Amino acid sequence: MSKLPIPHAQLHYADPAINDEAQTLPIGRFVDRIHHPTLGCPALLTPDQSLEVLLSLPEGADPRACVVTLVDRHGETGEYALKAVGSPVSLGKGPAGKDGRRELWQLSFDIAGKAFRLYDLRLQWEGKEETQPNAVRLYERITGDEKVVFCGDAQYHVDNEVCLERFIERINRLDDIAWVALIGDVCDNGVRGEMNVLKLALTAKPSPVHSYYAAEYARTAGKLLPRLNKPIVLVPGNHDGMVAYEDYERGESTNAYLGPDPKNTVAYDGLHHFRRSFGPLFHAFTWHRTRYLCTNTFELDRHERLGYHAVVANWGGWMRDEQLGWIESELKTATAADMHKVMLAHHDPRGGCLGKALGYYSEMRPYEFDKVYDVVVAYLRYLANHARTWQEEWMVRTNQSLADHPVKRLLETLVEHRTWAVIMGHDNENWVETYLQGDTVFKSDPEVRTYPASDEDPVDPKLVRAAADLLADRDLEALAQQLAECNEAEASVVIGKALERLDAERHFDAAASYAPAEVENWRIRAQAPIHFAHVDDVGAYKYQKEAHFSHYGYVIAQLSEGRPVNLQRFDLTQSATEGPVVDLLAATE
Ligand SMILES: [Fe+2]
Repeated sequence: MSKLPIPHAQLHYADPAINDEAQTLPIGRFVDRIHHPTLGCPALLTPDQSLEVLLSLPEGADPRACVVTLVDRHGETGEYALKAVGSPVSLGKGPAGKDGRRELWQLSFDIAGKAFRLYDLRLQWEGKEETQPNAVRLYERITGDEKVVFCGDAQYHVDNEVCLERFIERINRLDDIAWVALIGDVCDNGVRGEMNVLKLALTAKPSPVHSYYAAEYARTAGKLLPRLNKPIVLVPGNHDGMVAYEDYERGESTNAYLGPDPKNTVAYDGLHHFRRSFGPLFHAFTWHRTRYLCTNTFELDRHERLGYHAVVANWGGWMRDEQLGWIESELKTATAADMHKVMLAHHDPRGGCLGKALGYYSEMRPYEFDKVYDVVVAYLRYLANHARTWQEEWMVRTNQSLADHPVKRLLETLVEHRTWAVIMGHDNENWVETYLQGDTVFKSDPEVRTYPASDEDPVDPKLVRAAADLLADRDLEALAQQLAECNEAEASVVIGKALERLDAERHFDAAASYAPAEVENWRIRAQAPIHFAHVDDVGAYKYQKEAHFSHYGYVIAQLSEGRPVNLQRFDLTQSATEGPVVDLLAATE
């Protein structure tokens, strides 16, 4: 394993030339000179290790003029200006940008003798200062028997701050948590709920495009997550990486993923914001005898991540060759070092989840600005129902042979290297599915942990019927008028029930790409026990009543040799209701 947590080709990930200059709307610069460690990709260290810092400086600058300091913001042990060990090493120059070119430097620092705390990392250079909050945690020792927190989907937006606040307060009171991993959908891109999707659709026009990202990333990176008194590992999800073009009418499909797009003017791309706010899109770290791969499963081409504001056609997973190759090489090295492996991934590569619709890959839909009805209804069906066949776990390109699908290569690599667990978000579900040696990974035999009963606001059935009729007539405007009298929570239930009714009446065409026979032909079988676990959302669109918080939560994992061996769910109600313990080791015996 590389001493550097970031793949070599991604080292310049936060360079303004490939982020700020590739979109027209302004972007926050929370990650600028310090490329590692960062808020979302922290250094988790014991005193026998050195702290490796990556600095992106203007070409020709002397990295020895940088002062790097550990700041104990959460406690009272003060600050430590760090002493470099050896000489700075150049890792090469970045692309040419408007302000010239940058060079990336690796500096090593001795951390022996420092208090065992969580620190901000502060850089002072040429009279300027930059701080990465919660970027370094020093542990007296790492036994591999610690507890950690897994969760997903904060989906932070302007109205649901209470969810992330509750979560942070709760985790801050737990003294025995070593670190937290939030597995995608940190931000929301202003989806905010069903009614808002409807409103956005009705006001859709090619320009000007409004972005929620600048405010959401600024609030999470600048205010909320730094309040956490534990280090947090972040990976991107679909809500973090949506895209808008300046001109939809002239927009062209290209295979640009990030950076400049030769045929389109990009208003915003959430993945640029992610890199400039939290850190790299994929990275890895070692915890005791376990290698954690923190992956990006939203590597669709940019036009495939397109939406109007938050209304998008495609929200399932994809992975490109570069990352697949990096995963293979990481797993190979970890296998050679006799380590356990765990992958953190927002989307489930098996297509479905909860033992249902496994092998279901959602067909890619083009986003067409002037055909917004179909996009909106598809998106509402997912938001309102979370129906298994309407959740997009992973996409498939039209006319693509499933034999070439990236998840085939990914799953084959995972089982070949006897990966212990894949831990995922995206679904607000909480369960583990374990496959034993010889099982096909599409076998539906889950060990299920369900949520407390839902507490829906009662609604008038006549309102539901009328809403269903308006949806069937494709009259979104009249629907929005009808629901204007309802509060947000009621409107959300009416839309959900209306869509359920139309589904039951077989009003909608199936748009599935469901291929159990083909994926069965892949013959991907576990070579050792492998656990697929989905963990809870921290927040979403219901937060108006105390009962709504029973839908949100997090999982505390007990580790052994650094890997999770049992998981327990806690909800976000004031009483923090505990779920049953799911024992992963027992499941393999
Ligand atoms: Fe998601």
